[in-house]
Amino acid sequence: MRTPIVGGNWKMHTTRAEALALLVALRDGLADLGGVEVAVFPPAPWLGDASNILEGSNVAVGVQNVYWEPRGAFTGEQSAAMLVGAARHVLVGHSERRHVFGETDADVSRKLRSILDAGLHPVLAVGELQEERDAGATMDVLRRQLDGALTGLDELPTTLVVAYEPVWAIGTGRTATPEAAQEACAAVRSMVAERFEAAAASGLRVQYGGSVTPQNIEVLAAQPDIDGALVGGASLNAEAFIAICRALAAAKRI
Ligand code: PGA
Repeated sequence: MRTPIVGGNWKMHTTRAEALALLVALRDGLADLGGVEVAVFPPAPWLGDASNILEGSNVAVGVQNVYWEPRGAFTGEQSAAMLVGAARHVLVGHSERRHVFGETDADVSRKLRSILDAGLHPVLAVGELQEERDAGATMDVLRRQLDGALTGLDELPTTLVVAYEPVWAIGTGRTATPEAAQEACAAVRSMVAERFEAAAASGLRVQYGGSVTPQNIEVLAAQPDIDGALVGGASLNAEAFIAICRALAAAKRI
């Protein structure tokens, strides 16, 4: 069975005071929760605070971005190697990185490799634009993004998590229907099975992301190929994020 995993992507939000309060609330509010892995992705300036506050807790620390070179003259960037000890998970391929900052599938692939090489756990985000869905191209986009990211890997990394995040659902309040989310998450799994071994793909955790809230998580979590959620807006509210984590743990409990 796959342990569900929930990520809270804070994006470029929170003052330091807000971040500290949120970290403490999550540490305390999730202290008794089992059966689900939880990670938060705070802005980089709060990573030290996050590791200190969350040390020994049920909540792991993640980072939102890395550059693929290990070191060098790359002003403003941070390497995966530099994050070892400070974080466990790294987001890669998020739609905002692709569409606001112009990251290509080749960039995503290089970043993914550097994350794996550093021994960190990648959360690879994929998802189609509204126009691509309207044109019936969703599956082609998912295949292109997965193939682009996973190229050159001989085996499916056991630490990899894939987040299916339709771009039109991110930050819009327009959550995918549970059926559409299930269809895409199942497709991700079968594309990964075609590329690697079916047995490995059956262990892959696939999250859904895009306007997840405590109100809609239950129907999403009931879908067999949805193993967790990547949460943006609702992860800035401790009560809402904790409710989402609890709902996932309850839905996937065997
Ligand atoms: P949202 O963001 O929950 O605010 O839609 C999701 C994400 O970007 O990962």
